[in-house]
Amino acid sequence: MYKISCLLILITLQQFQSCCLSSCYLREKKFKSILRGNYKNVISYENDSLLISRKQNNFNGSGRLIGMLFRNQIYGEVKGTHCQINYSIIIQLKQNYELNTLILWLWDQQTRYYNLVVYVSYQEQETVIFDQVAAFAKAIYINFPAQFVNKFRVYNRNGNSASSATNIIKAEAYYKV
Ligand SMILES: *[C@@H]1O[C@H](CO)[C@@H](O)[C@H](O)[C@H]1NC(C)=O
Ligand SMILES: *[C@@H]1O[C@H](CO)[C@@H](O)[C@H](O)[C@H]1NC(C)=O
Ligand SMILES: *[C@@H]1O[C@H](CO)[C@@H](O)[C@H](O)[C@H]1NC(C)=O
Repeated sequence: MYKISCLLILITLQQFQSCCLSSCYLREKKFKSILRGNYKNVISYENDSLLISRKQNNFNGSGRLIGMLFRNQIYGEVKGTHCQINYSIIIQLKQNYELNTLILWLWDQQTRYYNLVVYVSYQEQETVIFDQVAAFAKAIYINFPAQFVNKFRVYNRNGNSASSATNIIKAEAYYKV
């Protein structure tokens, strides 16, 4: 009798444990997914990203969808968001995310090479994730070690081969698996 009840307790305990573990696992998975922006782009109007450097940036065009790096369209008649040498384009995210990918579409309707530095920032600590004196104008895919991010900063170190600006027409950030 004693043995049987012991066994029953043991079995219940094991069931309880495995049940708890799997729900813990699911909860952790869900939490991770939220932290990683559900593996989708976290830079957009809908996701409440902010261009906190907007006072020192220029926008080519006007209205909600023109000349802003958060719009969905990439090309148009416009050159996007731009800033002059020694200034930065700073994108603030709505929350802290764990990310590993940033894509920047540089204005490229003309052969251009950009001299720029890109930083990720978390709790005011910046890390360089891209640094080139002649980044060929196109979509630049920056893969960086997965880390917490609440800001991106694109610093215009020395303009580009055609002008003194850094022009970004669109930016996207993800956690890529
Ligand atoms: C951003 O907004 C889009 C459109 O509403 C949505 O599909 C996407 O899931 C959002 N991404 C995040 C990380 O919240
Ligand atoms: C935007 O850029 C285009 C192409 O360079 C130019 O023709 C247009 O005048 C610019 N618009 C503004 C508002 O600066
Ligand atoms: C950018 O900053 C550097 C270092 O402070 C300075 O030497 C340079 O003149 C500045 N360039 C412009 C265009 O302001």
